[in-house]
Amino acid sequence: MDNLTLARKEGWRHYVHAPARERPDALTLKQIRALPDKARADYDKQRRVWHANLGPLKTPQLAALHDDLWDIVDSNLQDGDKAKGAIAIDAFPGLGKTTAVLAFAKQFHLREITEEGEHTPDGHERWPVCRVGLTGNTGMKDFNRAMLEFFAHPGSSRGTATQFAHRALDCMLSCHVRLLVIDDLHFLRWRAKSGVEISNHFKYIANEFPVTLLFIGVGLADRGLFSEGISYTDAVLAQTGRRTTPLDMLPFTVDTEAGRRQWRQMLLALEQRLVLANTIPGMLADELSDYLFARSTGHIGSLMTLINRGCQRAVRTGTERLDEDLLDRVKNDAASEKARQELEAAFAARRITTRPRRKAG
Ligand SMILES: Nc1ncnc2c1ncn2[C@@H]1O[C@H](COP(=O)(O)OP(=O)(O)O)[C@@H](O)[C@H]1O
Ligand SMILES: [Mg+2]
Repeated sequence: MDNLTLARKEGWRHYVHAPARERPDALTLKQIRALPDKARADYDKQRRVWHANLGPLKTPQLAALHDDLWDIVDSNLQDGDKAKGAIAIDAFPGLGKTTAVLAFAKQFHLREITEEGEHTPDGHERWPVCRVGLTGNTGMKDFNRAMLEFFAHPGSSRGTATQFAHRALDCMLSCHVRLLVIDDLHFLRWRAKSGVEISNHFKYIANEFPVTLLFIGVGLADRGLFSEGISYTDAVLAQTGRRTTPLDMLPFTVDTEAGRRQWRQMLLALEQRLVLANTIPGMLADELSDYLFARSTGHIGSLMTLINRGCQRAVRTGTERLDEDLLDRVKNDAASEKARQELEAAFAARRITTRPRRKAG
């Protein structure tokens, strides 16, 4: 699923109600070899799809973010015109912001529908969440149009930025939207001149729309996008006259015992999801712990890419397990490759380790 499918409410509904993927059976090497060609092809295909969609894992980062989001969103359910706190999640790419927020928004959607019903008292469909994802060079008018397009509003082709905003407000009011997620906000076209216009626009949304605004982006805090030199979050959110809570997501780190334990717990959870015939307990968490940390530098996005690609190769080549040899041949993104060399040197010199002293779990 890509973001295009989430740009519309039907796509969103589909995402929310999609049944959990079924895990392919774990067959032994012998059983796999005994499969007739067609069944073998089917089995490998099931595993390709499965390994490409592992997750989301309940990482400590995701769990902590969800706790914060529930606190804030639930405390915002006061009536009417009371000011609602906004949220800005600001962290580097590949740390799982989008993944965590979508998982939260899905739970929120389901809870609201369960408690309040599929329809509003006025008979409209209830849409507790509206999600807008920005792409390169989005202007204010495109942003307003994107909100309308989420609702498949017929008036999304013609009009001024202000008209689009008014129509979007109507949609959100009638569908009882409670949470407005704006992903990749850093793509909003942002020049000194338009900065004030944008901040006024978010002020307008925050004041008029009875929603919790949830911004997600990279470098939001220190963009200095306003000519006055106030930071982006400050400017957007101070202007709204409301309190905005900045939240972040951090990579895994291994310089404390607690950090090493979290890394290990996550690898244990991850290796249980792999469907390879030659896996052994501890394949990731014991044998590859240092290696995987060096290659991903603790970034969940890089780790999942590497594991996904590694599993594809392990199935294709019939090795049916992950080890350094195989993973060495798998390419990862450029940023983690660069940091990898330094970390590997440090691991080799035993200056650092990813292993907790006592292995709980
Ligand atoms: N909790 C998680 N469990 C499993 N995979 C995850 C998790 N969080 C992120 N990922 C993977 O990492 C990649 C990057 O995550 P994403 O949410 O897009 O990061 P961001 O929005 O911060 O750039 C995604 O492809 C996703 O599959
Ligand atoms: Mg993202």
